Amino acid sequence: MSDSTFAIAPDGVNPSVVPQRTLHTGAKIPSVGIGTFGSDRFSAEEVATAVLGAISVGYRHIDCASIYGNEHLIGESLRTAIQGGIKREELFVTSKVWNNMHGEGDVLLSLAKSLKDLKLDYLDLFLVHWPFPNHHDQGVSVDSRDPHAVPYIHEDFMKTWRQMERLVDMGLVKAIGTSNVSIAKLKLILRDARIKPAVNEMELHPHFQQPELFQFCVDNKIVPIGFCPIGSPTRPDRDKTDTDTVDIQDPVIVKIAQRLGVHPAVVCLKWAVQRGQVPIPFSIHRSEYLSNLKCSTENLLTDAEMKELAGIDRKCRLIKGQVFLWTTAKDWPDLWDEDGHIAGL
Ligand SMILES: NC(=O)c1ccc[n+]([C@@H]2O[C@H](COP(=O)([O-])OP(=O)(O)OC[C@H]3O[C@@H](n4cnc5c(N)ncnc54)[C@H](OP(=O)(O)O)[C@@H]3O)[C@@H](O)[C@H]2O)c1
Repeated sequence: MSDSTFAIAPDGVNPSVVPQRTLHTGAKIPSVGIGTFGSDRFSAEEVATAVLGAISVGYRHIDCASIYGNEHLIGESLRTAIQGGIKREELFVTSKVWNNMHGEGDVLLSLAKSLKDLKLDYLDLFLVHWPFPNHHDQGVSVDSRDPHAVPYIHEDFMKTWRQMERLVDMGLVKAIGTSNVSIAKLKLILRDARIKPAVNEMELHPHFQQPELFQFCVDNKIVPIGFCPIGSPTRPDRDKTDTDTVDIQDPVIVKIAQRLGVHPAVVCLKWAVQRGQVPIPFSIHRSEYLSNLKCSTENLLTDAEMKELAGIDRKCRLIKGQVFLWTTAKDWPDLWDEDGHIAGL
């Protein structure tokens, strides 16, 4: 990556026309970001090359995480872009502390490593990736349970959150947020946080709209960031179950895609931006990531189409999180507090 050069693509999108959302800090976040989780399909090199390409076509929001194992190469892409004329302040870079770094001193260490890898001296947003300290080794079967895994323990989460707040005080991160939390957990976090979460990163796509959590976030000035915005159609088979549905095959989405002459993926993203969340689609293919950004700036969906899309929610959670279950948990719904109650031991 270090040999790469950077140039603004003539066929790209002017970042100033990409819609933005405002965080409670007053900072602006571009309403489409590029995801960087290559899973086991794409190498760190491929993802980092895509990030540089994405910046050249107008992306300014990049969703990273230490656990994705590619921040060191994405950092080279960021450096190349900055040396090529993009100002640091124009970029909005997110990273996340992984589950095995929730300890008091570990949050700072995790941030230090991400900053070093990303070759930055501050982050725009730092998230607690999951509300549990439950680590799992890569490639373990989805049914395996770590004997050390525990349910959500609010006091422990707040110890991690206090460290996140410290990072804001130190000027190392501009904003902090949660990911993969429920309304029940957010209520406790909002009650006890000195610095409230500015965003909640959550699974959001037309077949999984989470209307209550979405509205709770909006009502509490927490910007919803939507992961798997296209329904993660190419996720590994081990992350698929027989009951999972496929957003991009939904007849309503296909019909709208045909009207607009676009891929159904693009309809999912238009819906997301117009609904008010911030999708972070992943692709390493230039034509795809370019269309994923461009779609936020042209040919809006009609009110009737937005209404029709609101009606196709299948409540189909794709990232169920089974590997984070503790030994006495019943099944993955225990992670998500669907009855409004936080599951314990
Ligand atoms: N906070 C969390 O816990 C969490 C969890 C999951 C994900 N995330 C973040 O969310 C990002 C996105 O999630 P995701 O990658 O699972 O799902 P996704 O963005 O819904 O789906 C990505 C896949 O969609 C296909 N695609 C993308 N754009 C397309 C287009 N214009 N036309 C046709 N196909 C298109 C690509 O398939 P091909 O590669 O085959 O082209 C790509 O691999 C991740 O990269 C990560 O940054 C966060």
